[in-house]
Amino acid sequence: MKISINKNRLQKKIDDLALITEAAPPVVTRVLFSESDLRGRAFVKNLCREAGLVLREDAVGNIFAHWEGTDKTLPAVATGSHIDAIPNAGKYDGVVGVLGAIEAIRALQAAGFQPKRSIELIIFTSEEPTRFGIGCLGSRLLGGVLSIERAAALRDHDGKDLEFWRAQGGCTGSLESVKLPKDCYAAFVELHIEQGPILEAENVDIGVVEKIAAPSTLRLQLTGVGGHAGATLMPGRRDAGLAAAEIALAVEKAATTTGSPDTVGTTGVFRIEPGAVNSVPCRAWLEIDLRDTLVKTRDVALVQIEAAVKEICTRRKIEFTMERLNVDPPAICDAKLVGTTEVVAKTLNFSVKRMISRAYHDSLFMAQVCPTTMIFIPCFKGYSHRPDEFSSPEQIEKGVRVLADSFAELAG
Ligand code: GLV
Ligand code: MN
Ligand code: MN
Repeated sequence: MKISINKNRLQKKIDDLALITEAAPPVVTRVLFSESDLRGRAFVKNLCREAGLVLREDAVGNIFAHWEGTDKTLPAVATGSHIDAIPNAGKYDGVVGVLGAIEAIRALQAAGFQPKRSIELIIFTSEEPTRFGIGCLGSRLLGGVLSIERAAALRDHDGKDLEFWRAQGGCTGSLESVKLPKDCYAAFVELHIEQGPILEAENVDIGVVEKIAAPSTLRLQLTGVGGHAGATLMPGRRDAGLAAAEIALAVEKAATTTGSPDTVGTTGVFRIEPGAVNSVPCRAWLEIDLRDTLVKTRDVALVQIEAAVKEICTRRKIEFTMERLNVDPPAICDAKLVGTTEVVAKTLNFSVKRMISRAYHDSLFMAQVCPTTMIFIPCFKGYSHRPDEFSSPEQIEKGVRVLADSFAELAG
């Protein structure tokens, strides 16, 4: 079978999708169920139809594109990623795994391959946490990791809930119907850019993921007392912005003192209100991202941060709410599937490295459902979540080729 990846066609689709954005190109911003996210979803669904795939959408907007195999009694082989993008993002994160999968399927079709097992592409809802503060919303529900009650309680910064946003996305049906039965897929393999510098620095073509680091997120609302910046004297102030600043420094301290070089802590959302230069900040809204490859050290830092919040807010007479939006274990990938993917890449004469993913992915939760691994490709200087994120067409082509050959191996 002669498989040929059309890297130029794929690059054109990546470029076209990048133009569907809430911000001016080259910045890509596509927040869950925003107008640009909806246009992006329509763009991808159209490509799936052109490839002859049959579409279905679940109650939270996960999109399933199905290539029917000759034996419908066998569990399908699945792949997928996301097309939502955080504010000020680039055009490859998630997109390579979605558009690359469509290209892999088209290449197999052109080569005359007929799968025995069906092949299913999943475009996951809200891998990014921008809207609700919690990442991997769609795959958490698929994996049964997020309860319906907690999903219903999610709120965005404006107080709007998932029901509201689901309706914007045209999603109907009960969230209970989203959960997948265990082992409904024979395997799940996600293609993604590395989002780190290792593959490029070591000049390796392909990473095969063995483990995904353990993420967690805290959301805080602080309420102090506002007032006139000139007329309110310093003694007795209850400045929510200063409490927030101290908390952000406590996050840095906790993440740098666990003894693990893999603990990372980021206060990536930091909003103070009313946001006027001559007004003492009366409220602050913080979202804190804390991760590690090891749960033990991640949790030491998490408890330290929570204690620091209480101490800082008590001392500064600030009222606060603090919520653990998610505290997840790491995912261990399926050893057999890792081995198969590695052999596929080596058979293509690509250099391969087994890796830990420090970023999280929908694979973290698909691993609850079926054997899972990921294919990583290098990206420029490891840049990601920024507009100059870049992987070359040739690097992408190699990843797509490994994905296509993995489908042939697993579904053939
Ligand atoms: C995914 O976007 C992550 O933040 O790891
Ligand atoms: Mn991302
Ligand atoms: Mn991603």
